[in-house]
Amino acid sequence: MSTSYRIPVYQPWLCGNEERYILDCLRSGWISSKGPYIAAFEERFAEFVGIRHAISVCNGTVALHTALAALGIGPGDEVIVPTLTYIAPVNTIVYCGATPVFVDSDPHTWQLDPDDVYRRIGPRTKAILAVHLYGHPAEMNALVTLAREHGLFLIEDCAEAFGATYEGKHVGTFGDIATFSFYGNKTITTGEGGMVVTDDDMLAERIRRLKGQGLAPYREYWHDIVGYNYRMTNIAAAIGLAQLENASMFLERKRWIAEEYHALLERTPLEFQHTAPNVTHSWWMVSVLAPTAHARDMLRAELHRHGIETRPTFYPVHTMPMYSQRYERHQIAESLGLRGINLPSFPALCRKDIEEICTIIHRAIGIQEIGTPHPHHRHILGTLP
Ligand SMILES: Cc1ncc(COP(=O)(O)O)c(C=O)c1O
Repeated sequence: MSTSYRIPVYQPWLCGNEERYILDCLRSGWISSKGPYIAAFEERFAEFVGIRHAISVCNGTVALHTALAALGIGPGDEVIVPTLTYIAPVNTIVYCGATPVFVDSDPHTWQLDPDDVYRRIGPRTKAILAVHLYGHPAEMNALVTLAREHGLFLIEDCAEAFGATYEGKHVGTFGDIATFSFYGNKTITTGEGGMVVTDDDMLAERIRRLKGQGLAPYREYWHDIVGYNYRMTNIAAAIGLAQLENASMFLERKRWIAEEYHALLERTPLEFQHTAPNVTHSWWMVSVLAPTAHARDMLRAELHRHGIETRPTFYPVHTMPMYSQRYERHQIAESLGLRGINLPSFPALCRKDIEEICTIIHRAIGIQEIGTPHPHHRHILGTLP
């Protein structure tokens, strides 16, 4: 998010009860991590996702750390994770002293490739950490089967996929534990915030204990495990509850935004993230691929010149300095990472803005009439016919 762009890539929409609930916190004095909004937000969130336990924490990264710690992931263990992801899930594997094992992506949905997961399972593999990227669910049937057959834990990172479903079930309900982020650019936000969800009563109890300094429930100031202070504040939960009340509207708007982009960019060489037939994409970020890395950069520069913010798709984590000591190629992830653009996707985006963004893209590509490349602009998209 940036304050300097005319059209940012994302901004929160605080159009409901946020102000009223925050004022209630201030006036009642419940501003830290105790207070009625915590339980209310957790209960409503669990209901929305369709799971037994939702445990609030202070961001999506610590949600992942808590999930891995609750499963006992530690030194000597390997965790399989997609290389095309935001950095947080990979780092949290390392926080636990375990080793991330990277897998490549599906070229169409951009999700971790179950065949590559299978190839990388070894004697030290303890878990698969699936990330539902940009709001499209990972291939859960295959991943659940692999986890079951090989005795592995399955963790779902749903930071980008609030509202996404796979065969009618909300993401986060397939594995042992799942996590969410409520950072300011997420589909529902608490400013900074996160949630850990599970159907397992024992894991839920462990997660609650880990996030609250390992405090034992039977004696004051008695800590029977090494825990953390990963608690969410009542104020953040108050914002979350208000956001949750508008979640269906946000998701509806985002679906409409995705449809508009698809319609207006249909006859360009840009390729959208494909939607598998058995999922509901929640369109956290509407993302397209340019034919080349150069074309991607030119398009982004042109949008930037007009005050429109975009983001590049994630750089594959195996190429980053701290994870690249061993030479590895993950060709599909590398190609997606170099050619992708996240377009403005916030729920309050209006038709006029989408039309302007698409007009600039059309002009940059050199399409005077849709589908006909302008001869002077062919250099921008090298592979145009
Ligand atoms: C896939 C993914 N996992 C984890 C996180 C981390 O969440 P947070 O920023 O709340 O720590 C994010 C993004 O913010 C994300 O996109």
